[in-house]
Amino acid sequence: MNILVTGGAGFIGSHTLIELYKAGHTAVVVDNLSNSNPVALKRVAEIIGVPEIPFYKVDIRDREGLERVFAATEGAGGTPAYPKFDACIHFAGLKAVGESVEKPWEYYENNIGGTLTLVDVMRKHGCKNIIFSSSATIYGDPAEIPITENCPKGQCTNPYGWTKSMLEQVLMDIQKADPEWNVVLLRYFNPVGAHRSGRIGENPNGIPNNLMPYITQVAVGKRKELGVFGNDYNTPDGTGVRDYIHVVDLANAHVCALQAIGRRCGMGIYNIGTGHGYSVLDMVKAFVRVNGVDVPYSIKPRRAGDIATCYCDPAKAAAELGWKAQYGIDDMVRDSWNWQKNNPEGYPEVS
Ligand code: NAD
Ligand code: UD1
Repeated sequence: MNILVTGGAGFIGSHTLIELYKAGHTAVVVDNLSNSNPVALKRVAEIIGVPEIPFYKVDIRDREGLERVFAATEGAGGTPAYPKFDACIHFAGLKAVGESVEKPWEYYENNIGGTLTLVDVMRKHGCKNIIFSSSATIYGDPAEIPITENCPKGQCTNPYGWTKSMLEQVLMDIQKADPEWNVVLLRYFNPVGAHRSGRIGENPNGIPNNLMPYITQVAVGKRKELGVFGNDYNTPDGTGVRDYIHVVDLANAHVCALQAIGRRCGMGIYNIGTGHGYSVLDMVKAFVRVNGVDVPYSIKPRRAGDIATCYCDPAKAAAELGWKAQYGIDDMVRDSWNWQKNNPEGYPEVS
């Protein structure tokens, strides 16, 4: 299939491109580079062994820009530059939880406005297949552990989470009204790790919000110590428990979701996690043990909005998509560190 990948220069998108090509697909990337670096796409092309990944620096809120991308697959009087899109994998969006509390309008406008424009242009061009990056955050404080897809959606604690929850509803309603659509919502748990080569990885701007990039930046000496947000949760060691998933496993879930779209799956909703919960201290200890580096930490107050425990039951994805995580915690901490130590400053800036 030829896939439109929005947000393809980002962390999960860049890893997914590799797995797509490995599975025999091709891709065209649309990204406004607001949170990414085109060097990632160059490195993806090197890893895959192709001259380049087709790329348009276009914002998904820019209807004319998207029309240009689709026009390149239709050839208007000439030979199309690319085959028609069979599906879109839609990663593009803003994802910083704290920033979303300060700038709610920007988050709703980018994530919701952008998706509405994208979906409208897609349907006008007869492409009615989409895989959407949703998040475990839509469960709020989950009503059950492990979380199944039947668990009711909860109250999100921030506008970022609401954009995911609302967009799930938007896409479900669109599929219901027009069953020609195939919509797969993938609810990611906590993506970590990096490609085994250490050439691509997570490259957060400024101070990382998420645990793994913070750990790797402490290990590489960029930050003094990790603050562990609370050790008085009702968990085995008192620190928060999450379902960390290797980004390459997550990338492969998209390949499996494309197969489901090929079978005309209609509406599909899947948790994408390993089903194992690890605490903050489990992650720190595994990182130190596997990589032989020190990660100083101290206990800090709880972070507002955090929950004690969040891990999923991934059985539905196994049964219906034939997808299962292959990598464990040791692979996750090894590959996160391999990326960070080889790229202490992240991707080089392009002039
Ligand atoms: P990322 O920021 O690395 O990638 C997102 C990409 O989208 C970036 O390259 C950014 O430049 C681009 N983008 C943002 N707004 C855009 C716009 N209007 N037009 C075009 N491009 C735009 O994030 P990621 O970690 O790769 O996440 C990918 C998707 O998965 C996001 O939708 C995110 O919300 C979702 N998700 C991420 C996590 C996580 O922990 N990383 C967890 C659950 C869900
Ligand atoms: C965060 C987001 C969530 C998003 C998810 C995706 C918040 C409140 N939630 O969830 O919306 O979908 O990422 O990856 O930001 N921790 C520390 N010290 C740190 C950083 C984190 O102790 O410096 C702890 C947290 O308290 C938590 C665990 O590590 O227990 C994981 O945190 P994080 O990586 O931010 O992910 P989530 O909180 O699960």
